[in-house]
Amino acid sequence: MDHTEVMKPETLDDLIKVLHQVFSSDCINVEEVQNIMESYESKPQEWMKYAKFDQFRYTRNLVDEGNGKFNLMILCWGEGHGSSIHDHTDSHCFMKLLQGQLKETLFEWPDKKIHGGMKRKSERVLQENQCAYINDSIGLHRVENVSHTECATSLHLYSPPFDHCNAFDQRTGHKNTVKMTFWSKYGERTPFETSISQENN
Ligand SMILES: [Fe+2]
Repeated sequence: MDHTEVMKPETLDDLIKVLHQVFSSDCINVEEVQNIMESYESKPQEWMKYAKFDQFRYTRNLVDEGNGKFNLMILCWGEGHGSSIHDHTDSHCFMKLLQGQLKETLFEWPDKKIHGGMKRKSERVLQENQCAYINDSIGLHRVENVSHTECATSLHLYSPPFDHCNAFDQRTGHKNTVKMTFWSKYGERTPFETSISQENN
């Protein structure tokens, strides 16, 4: 099926429908998915019900399970909230800004033979409606809302879905496996027991 003719998704629901079509194929065109996600113009009233903030750290809120092909989620970043440096478990990771700005810092995979700090490759600030992409062959990243006055909201697509990743210590390059959980699913707060572990991507 050719998706290049796909119309611009006008709503979040439209976007989800188009993503279901695109990911029904086993062959994913990264640029196409990025274009589709960028072409949706963020309208807060459409995603507000998923955007649940926590005072202390960013939250992951499940929006759609993509027929088992992907997980679509909304991450809510309070002022100064940031992720660890992490990998993406051999999945595709798309990250679109719905509101505010996020700084993305790219790192190289740590070299086991060289002890010491992790090497920073680049950094950029993602703006509203922009969609970034990363996978393990590109490297690792840290995502941060560096603003002290504005929160940020982002829409993330991971394919195939995963619930573990590695978090890296910037000073030593040592990694830890981290289990990721959802703060809410489909707009409903997830029971406390499943939300206590550290969250990371
Ligand atoms: Fe990430």
